Amino acid sequence: MSTGLDAVYDELKRLQKEGLDRVYINDSTASLLKPIEPKVIPVKHISAQDTAALADLIDKPTPRAEPAKPTISVVEIEPLPEAPTIQLPDDAPIAQLKWLEESVQKCATCNERKNEDEQLVFGNGAIDADILFCGDAPGTDEAMSGLPFVGAAGQLLDKIIKAMGLDREKVYCTNLLKWRPKNDKPYGNRPPTQEEMAFCLPYLEAQIDIIQPKVIVALGNNTVGGLLGEETKRKFGSLRGQWDTFHDIPLMITFHPSYLQRNDTLKTKRMAWEDLLAVMGKVDLPISEKQQGYFLK
Ligand code: URA
Repeated sequence: MSTGLDAVYDELKRLQKEGLDRVYINDSTASLLKPIEPKVIPVKHISAQDTAALADLIDKPTPRAEPAKPTISVVEIEPLPEAPTIQLPDDAPIAQLKWLEESVQKCATCNERKNEDEQLVFGNGAIDADILFCGDAPGTDEAMSGLPFVGAAGQLLDKIIKAMGLDREKVYCTNLLKWRPKNDKPYGNRPPTQEEMAFCLPYLEAQIDIIQPKVIVALGNNTVGGLLGEETKRKFGSLRGQWDTFHDIPLMITFHPSYLQRNDTLKTKRMAWEDLLAVMGKVDLPISEKQQGYFLK
C-alpha cells in the first residue's frame, strides 16, 4: 500500500521524468519536514588483508566512503527590496549594454547577496544575437569567472550551440539572477527563489530590450517560473517544447543543460534537440539532413 511519502516520492519522480530540474520548497513547507536520518547500513567486517587483496584484484584504489548525500536545504533569505527601475540612456545599443552592465556591477542588493569571493554574472555574447539563451542563475564556475555558462552545463550548451551550426559568440547567454544564490551547503547550487528572480528581472528585461533577439530559449523549469510565473514551474512537462512569448518575443521552453547531463538518454536528447530544431527554424537557420536526424536511432 502506498503511503503519503511514497505518493510524494512518485510525484517527484514523475516531475523529474518530465524535465523538472529542481524543486523549491518554501520555508513553511520545509518547516513541516523532518530532517532525514541517514540510514546506517551494517558493514561486514573485512580484514585489512582482504581489502588489500581486493584492491589488487580490481586494480583500483580501495574505495572511500561516499560523502553524505545532501538533504533538504533551507536558506534564510532576507526580504529583498523593490526591483530596480531601469531607464536606459538614449544611446547606441552598445553603450546601453555597457551602461546596464555597469549598473548591475554597482547594484547594492546584488553585491550584498553574492558570496564575498564571487562575482556578479551579467551575460555575454553578440549584441545583435538572434537567439538569447537564458538560465536561472550562475553556478560556482560562473560566479568565480563572472561569465555565464562556463561550467559543465555551459560546456554542454556550447556543444548544443555548435550542433545548431552556431558559435557562442553569435548568440547571447545570460541568467535571470545576476548573483549565485547563497547556499547553506559547501557544495551544489541552490535554485533561486521567485523573489530573487523577480528582483533581477528588470535587468534581464533591459538586456532583451537592447539585444532584441528573435527568439529567447528558456532553459529549465526555474527559468520558466522566473519568466512566466511560479505556477508554470510545475507544468514544465507540458510546456517544454512549446512556444510561448516573453515581451512579445517567441520563447522556446526547453530542458536545462544540467538536466540533460543528469538524464543522459537518447530520448531526452532528441526531445531537447527537437526544441532546438524549432528554434533554428524560427530564426531561419539552415537545417541539414544530418542535423534533422541527430539523436534518432
Ligand atoms: N546554470 C545556469 O542556469 N546558468 C549558468 O550560467 C550556469 C549554470
